Amino acid sequence: MAKNNSKSAKAKSAVKSTLQFNTSWSYAPAPESADHVKLQSSYDLFIDGKFTAPAKGKYFDTLNPATEKKLASVAEATTEDVDLAVQSARRAYDKVWSKMPAKERGKYIFRIARILQERAREFSVLESMDGGKPIRESRTIDIPLAAAHFFYYAGWADKLEYAVAGNRPVRALGVAGQIIPWNFPLLMAAWKIAPALAAGNTVVLKPAETTPLTALKLAEIFQQADLPPGVVNIVTGAGATGAAIVQHPGIDKIAFTGSTDIGKGIQKALVGRDTKLTLELGGKSANIIFEDAALDQAVEGIINGIYFNQGHVCCAGSRLFVQESVAGMLIRKLQDRMQTLIVGDPLDKNTDIGAINSRPQLEKIEEYLKIGVKEGAELFQTKCEIPKKGFWVRPTLFTNVAQSHRISQEEIFGPVLTMQTFRTVEEVVEKANNTPYGLAAGVWTDKGSKVFSVSSQLRAGVVWANTYNKFDPTAPFGGYKESGKGREGGLHGLLPYLEVA
Ligand code: NAI
Ligand code: MG
Repeated sequence: MAKNNSKSAKAKSAVKSTLQFNTSWSYAPAPESADHVKLQSSYDLFIDGKFTAPAKGKYFDTLNPATEKKLASVAEATTEDVDLAVQSARRAYDKVWSKMPAKERGKYIFRIARILQERAREFSVLESMDGGKPIRESRTIDIPLAAAHFFYYAGWADKLEYAVAGNRPVRALGVAGQIIPWNFPLLMAAWKIAPALAAGNTVVLKPAETTPLTALKLAEIFQQADLPPGVVNIVTGAGATGAAIVQHPGIDKIAFTGSTDIGKGIQKALVGRDTKLTLELGGKSANIIFEDAALDQAVEGIINGIYFNQGHVCCAGSRLFVQESVAGMLIRKLQDRMQTLIVGDPLDKNTDIGAINSRPQLEKIEEYLKIGVKEGAELFQTKCEIPKKGFWVRPTLFTNVAQSHRISQEEIFGPVLTMQTFRTVEEVVEKANNTPYGLAAGVWTDKGSKVFSVSSQLRAGVVWANTYNKFDPTAPFGGYKESGKGREGGLHGLLPYLEVA
């Protein structure tokens, strides 16, 4: 009885705090609370449907990059653990998943999507704590979009015969090894797992070592959804764990998202093996502003293009090209807008730019700031306050940039924009394409015909017109040249998980 009373008191105070939160929302949103997440002190590997201690008993720390405090210990999977995970995925494939009617497989994926939607708040808070991204982004983009990927691919599960021309028979590949980065931890897990399962494969997935927690929480959802053991296994660890997945002979397909260097290494490691491979690598995408564009809208697109997710975005619009006649005006407008950006606590709903994901990434960005100045570019940074602890970079704009500068050629992966000017369409197309990468681009103009003519000349997997960084599960995503091979998203993202008879 006493217990019940205290329960109802708790329930009442929960209602009260929700009301308080709602009234404060209109003028000063309170920070999202870490209380929405029950953190464990340590996390094990998810193998064969169970959380399992690592064979060698080793654990590493994952930090909150906004506080530099440890959030939890996480198991480090060695080759023995990876082998167990691959064996489990193989058993699940042979005995359960490949035998199950496709309609039933689809039901599991729908169930995962629904539970994720229900638990969205908890996932959003955890994502922002483990990786540093603003809660507004995890709440409105990362987590809902991750659920949307599961919903979208769930629908394909029993329609695979319509996935290829001529209704030719298709079959799954078997066991997929998937290695993902730290910039969109849960979303990348969804991009990888959803099409693999819909196509009938089983999975061994490794999240990045700085952001493993939401993938491990997704494993809780797999249990909650009664997904058969072994259909998805989550192994945590750093590069060596990733390499163990790549080298495992029992893997039929590797899907990797991360740096171009590691991607190239994986490609080499697979030479001579019949393992299918898709790579989603780096970028240095051009965002092109023509003089006839709606400049205020374009400024919003530039801001979103480079400062979204601290610029930790493979398709970030990191190279800004502005037509000379409007360059002066655009710089003024852009700098004014940049001054309004708030850098700080990822859990605060007012925050625009959160914490840099890790100390090594912070050091890399700071190094590029020095390189830019040394190369002779002009550095502009806003004056906003930044917290004393944690990893932060103020929004940055380099003008007076030359095509040959390293800051305009190499991926910085931070809130750092370079700006160049141009006079003609021919000139900007040539400059935009003159990069080893080819992932994305943006074109801002009032003229529809210019959108079509320019975007058809750009060697980029995605070209946005009068918008930037818009994602949808139905749309294919991927790059040319050193930005990778293969596509993810949409029907195109399903095909790399299927073999056509
Ligand atoms: P990374 O490429 O080392 O990490 C990505 C994933 O690959 C992580 O899960 C990591 O543990 C794993 N990995 C590392 N070495 C591996 C190996 N030998 N075999 C298999 N898997 C391996 O990226 P990192 O070092 O975290 O970031 C460095 C730079 O890479 C960034 O500054 C950025 O420029 C770029 N990057 C690009 C991403 C994209 O989405 N295109 C994502 C992350 C980083
Ligand atoms: Mg972390």
